[in-house]
Amino acid sequence: MASITIRNLDDEVKDLLRRLAAENDRSMEEQARVMIRAAVEGQLGPVGRIDQIEKTLRELTSSHSPATPIAAMSSQISRGSLSGKRILLIIGGGIAAYKALDLIRRLRERGAAVRAVMTAAAQEFVTTLSVGALSADHVFVDLFDRNDEHDVGHIRLSREADLVVVAPATADLMAKLANGHANDLASTVLIATDKPVLMAPAMNPKMWSHPATRRNRATLQKDGIAFIGPAKGEMAESNEAGEGRMAEPLEIVAAIEALLDIRPKPLAGRRIIVTSGPTHEPIDPVRYIANRSSGKQGHAIAAALARLGADVRLVSGPVGIADPAGVTTLHVETANEMKDAVEQLLPADAAVFVAAVADWRSETSAGEKIKKVAGEGPPALQMIENPDILAGVGHHKKRPSLVVGFAAETQDLVKNAKAKLAKKGADFIVANDVSHDSGMGSSGVMGGDRNRVRIVSKAGVDEWPEMSKDEVATRLAALIAERLKTITV
Ligand code: CTP
Repeated sequence: MASITIRNLDDEVKDLLRRLAAENDRSMEEQARVMIRAAVEGQLGPVGRIDQIEKTLRELTSSHSPATPIAAMSSQISRGSLSGKRILLIIGGGIAAYKALDLIRRLRERGAAVRAVMTAAAQEFVTTLSVGALSADHVFVDLFDRNDEHDVGHIRLSREADLVVVAPATADLMAKLANGHANDLASTVLIATDKPVLMAPAMNPKMWSHPATRRNRATLQKDGIAFIGPAKGEMAESNEAGEGRMAEPLEIVAAIEALLDIRPKPLAGRRIIVTSGPTHEPIDPVRYIANRSSGKQGHAIAAALARLGADVRLVSGPVGIADPAGVTTLHVETANEMKDAVEQLLPADAAVFVAAVADWRSETSAGEKIKKVAGEGPPALQMIENPDILAGVGHHKKRPSLVVGFAAETQDLVKNAKAKLAKKGADFIVANDVSHDSGMGSSGVMGGDRNRVRIVSKAGVDEWPEMSKDEVATRLAALIAERLKTITV
C-alpha cells in the first residue's frame, strides 16, 4: 500500500493542508485523504492555481457541511462505538510516536477512555505533557513511582483496561514481551496483563525483516498477540523505504473495534435453529446411506448468525468439522433424530435448513452385520421415505416467523427452487447448482469451500456472485437480520 509523507510535500501544499486540517479538526493525513478522494471523484474540476482551488477544496472537504459526499464520508466516525471501553496505550520510542497522539484523539472521540504508558525512549519523541493533555489522564512512565500520587501499580494498570495497545511497538518492546522480560513499566504491564494485546509495529525495514524480529513476531502471534501493520512506505530516514511504517491511527482504531467485537448485534434476543451436514441412515451396525455434504455451509451460517447476536441452536448430522464458536450444537445421526431435535427446539424466531437430509432410509436396520452368503447374492434393501423436516416446520403450528430452505439442484435450478418454496412453506430458498458443469471447479459445492447461490422468494430471484461459504453465510445472516427487523414477536 502506497503512503504519502506530508513532510515531503511542497510548502505551499503543506500550508494549505495544515489550514484545512485545522479548520476541520482533522489530522493532516486525514485531510490529505479526503482531498485525494475529492480529486479522484472528479469534484475539483480542472486543476488551476492553488489559491483558486483552495475555495473549492474548502467547500468540498469541510466537515461542517455534511451535505457533500466527501464531508459525509470523512465524518463517518462511529461516534460512541468505543463508549465505555478502556484502552491502555503503551507508547514505544520511535518517530511514529507522534501518531500515537492522533490515535488517542481518535479513540477518545469514539468514547474510549485512554490511559497511556510511555517508555523512556518514547519521551524522547513526544512529551508526557501532550500525551496527558490529549488523554486527559495521568501518563505513567515509571515502574517504581512510590512517591507518585497517581501510582496505581502495574498490575492494576494492566488489568483495568479492556485492551492493551502498543503503538508504536518497537523491535525492543516486541523482543521484551516475546522473551518475557519485565524491566520497565511498559514491559511489566505487558507481561502482567490478562487482557487482549494489539501491537502496531513501527521500525526501520531492515529491523522489521531481521530474523530476530521475525522470530519474536511469530512467538507473539503464537501467544495470541494481535498485530496491525506495519505498512510499506517511506521511512523517516532519508532514502529508506520498505515495510516498517506504523499503521495509520484510523486503521488501528478499526483493528481495536474488531478485537473488542464492536459490531452491531441486530439478532440479539432472537433464537434461530440451523440444520447442517448430512444424515446417516443405517443399514446394519456398520453400514449406512449418506451423501457428500461436509456441513461447511450450515456451520458457517450458524457462526455468522451467532456473530450478529442470535442464540443459535445448530442441529448437525455427522461431520468432520468443529462445532462453531458461540453456538449450541446438538449432534444427531439420522433424519428422524434431526426432525425430533428440531421440533423440540421450537418455538424459534427463524429456522434455516441447510442439512442435506437423506430422502430415504432402509425400512429395516439389521441388528447384526449383514453377512455375505455364498450363492444368495446381494441383499435387497427396501427403502422408505424420511420425514421432510423443512416442510414439517414450514407448516407447523409453531412455525418460526422466518423459514429458510436450501435447494441443491443439478437442473432447472430456479424452477425447482420455486416449487420447493411453495411445497415446503419456506419464506425463501437458497438455491445452489450442484451439477458438475456448475462452473464451481472439480470439488464442486458439496465439500468445497465456495458457493454460488440464488435467493428465491415470492418477490423474485436474487443472484449472488460466487463467493466463499463464509461470505455466503455472512451475507445470508445479514439478510435474515434485515427480514427479522420487520417482524415483531
Ligand atoms: N430437507 C429437509 N428434510 C428432508 C429433505 C430436505 O429438511 N427430508 C430440506 C433441506 O435441508 C433443504 C431443503 O429441504 O433445506 C431442500 O432439500 P433438497 O434435498 O434440495 O430437496 P428435496 O426435498 O430432498 O427434493 P429433491 O431431492 O427431490 O430435489
